[in-house]
Amino acid sequence: MSKPESLSLLEVRDIRKVFIDEDFQTPVLKGVNFSLRRGEMVAMLGPSGSGKSTLLSILGTLMRPTSGSLRMLGSELTTLAERELSDFRNQQIGFIFQYHHLLPDFTALENVMFPHAGRLWRETRAGRERAAMLLERVGLSERMNYRATRLSGGQKQRVAIARALMNQPALVLADEPTGNLDRENADQAFALMQEIQRETGTTFLLSTHDRELAERCERRIVIQGGIVVDGAEPVTHRTDSTGGLRMIEGDVAVVIDHTRVPNSSDDRRRA
Ligand SMILES: Nc1ncnc2c1ncn2[C@@H]1O[C@H](COP(=O)(O)OP(=O)(O)O)[C@@H](O)[C@H]1O
Ligand SMILES: [Mg+2]
Repeated sequence: MSKPESLSLLEVRDIRKVFIDEDFQTPVLKGVNFSLRRGEMVAMLGPSGSGKSTLLSILGTLMRPTSGSLRMLGSELTTLAERELSDFRNQQIGFIFQYHHLLPDFTALENVMFPHAGRLWRETRAGRERAAMLLERVGLSERMNYRATRLSGGQKQRVAIARALMNQPALVLADEPTGNLDRENADQAFALMQEIQRETGTTFLLSTHDRELAERCERRIVIQGGIVVDGAEPVTHRTDSTGGLRMIEGDVAVVIDHTRVPNSSDDRRRA
């Protein structure tokens, strides 16, 4: 069932990160500000060393910022205790890394089921079915029971995409997800993420050096010298008499259909 929801997914305000080693401090993020809306596919661009991976780790709550505010789905994440944070992360955030990070000795199916398996999914039939459905969605139904080491680079990354979606997250963070793939596999993996984003309304934020892929995203956030220098806020589309545009001015409401694949067989309820 479609219902109106707030447009806003994530508000990042004045996020700073200083790495402190024994002898010196390295300020990396110097006041990052931007917002994400539900259902967007956004590219993050910026030179090597500009802090993209650091920022993605902070957004994914894998690393604490030195200061600043992260507001996602009504929660201030910077003040949550570890336990609440890990529950939130497990339910709402999916990760895709440059080097897939699959467990080599496990099958594709197990890799999709296990790493993000909250108590709810561990070895349950529903979990297995959802993992199988996601693998089918990424074109790997024939490879479900292959061990990760026996898959090609492109196939491994497609398993990683399925894995990121396992818990039906609101946000998928991808750190150079195509950086290790050849052109053809990069295009395929990107197209797959884009299809899934459109089908499910999952928000994707992906860092990339690939201009071509960045151009295919709805928006580009550019980070440089530790701050966002371009693309910080979503473009608002005005609805006109012909209708059809899903974003409306003023951050009021948007209809996102969560009932479509690949979430359709998932009967899990969210708080
Ligand atoms: N744990 C750390 N300790 C100290 N410096 C770090 C640490 N992690 C990253 N950095 C530094 O932060 C800067 C940004 O790194 P990173 O976020 O990986 O950038 P990008 O992903 O844009 O290439 C780099 O100068 C890097 O050396
Ligand atoms: Mg990086």
